[in-house]
Amino acid sequence: MQKIKVSTSSEYEILIEKGIRLKLREILPKREDCKYIVLTDENVDKLYGRKLFESLSKYNLIKYVLKPGENSKSFEELQKFLEFMAQKDINANDVLIAFGGGVIGDFGGFAAGVYRRGIDYIQLPTTLLSQVDSSVGGKTAVNLNEGKNLVGLFKQPIAVYCDPEYFKTLEDRDFSSGVGEAIKYGVLFDKNLFEELSRGIDKNQDLSNIVKRCVELKRDVVEADEYDNGKRQLLNLGHTIAHAIEIKSEYEITHGRAVAIGMAIMARACNKIGIFKGDISDIENCLEKNNLPTKTKFNIDELFELIERDKKRRGSYINEILIEDIGSCNLKKFSFGELKELIKKGMK
Ligand code: GLY
Repeated sequence: MQKIKVSTSSEYEILIEKGIRLKLREILPKREDCKYIVLTDENVDKLYGRKLFESLSKYNLIKYVLKPGENSKSFEELQKFLEFMAQKDINANDVLIAFGGGVIGDFGGFAAGVYRRGIDYIQLPTTLLSQVDSSVGGKTAVNLNEGKNLVGLFKQPIAVYCDPEYFKTLEDRDFSSGVGEAIKYGVLFDKNLFEELSRGIDKNQDLSNIVKRCVELKRDVVEADEYDNGKRQLLNLGHTIAHAIEIKSEYEITHGRAVAIGMAIMARACNKIGIFKGDISDIENCLEKNNLPTKTKFNIDELFELIERDKKRRGSYINEILIEDIGSCNLKKFSFGELKELIKKGMK
């Protein structure tokens, strides 16, 4: 079993092991008189819900199931869930388990952060995307009609348990969405990881080491900048464009696939302005080898309307991440006019 300690405002461990889902009975923190509220979605529940409840039969578990997909990350759903927790008398001694992908982790973490001014929660991520990125570091949120993740807070989990065997049942586009985020870690910080991913990965192979490497890289970033005031913003590589694409496609294009397009656009743009020192086809080939898109059908004006509302905006500027080489990226402040010109270059 791989153990990664995260030292942020609170400390916790991320445990990674194939089959760890079958050992939760021994691993879950034991508290007297504790209820565990398991938040999941219909897909995960159908595949793994019964097994989880059977293996944890000695615990007092309560289940709440959301519809799968980004549209569940709404205030309306949040209110229903908070009221459900209140009806079940969930209190400060109890623990929420976010059992699912990024939507469940973000929504569950936010609910845990605001319910009774905060209860503990555990991340039990079932997708590649949530294991390599969203379950680590305590960013939680729900969406507004005006934009993705516009309401959220930092709330670190008390533990994260990653079982890469869950990936076997992911649909191909959901698996590739996670690969998009993993490639992001390679492009940002680690050439070896990037090269490994460039050979193409498969949901049936043992991905424990890839999950571990991405989690270590993310751990280092969140320890250095838990509240997203500096280095952590690098993790938004490709995300300005990605969030606009996700919204414009009404979430038909999944997060990691939109990030892949965003990264490819930024790589081409950085190449055109002479910043990117590497070979642009290395990035495009790596994405394509993993069945990820590198272009969008939306035009710059359609995307920019949404980019101007991005939550990463700081006054009339936005920090964008420029790719200098594989494994080396930098933040730079852009006015919206400058950013539009830059993105336009990468879209061609
Ligand atoms: N997913 C980006 C971050 O956690 O900062």
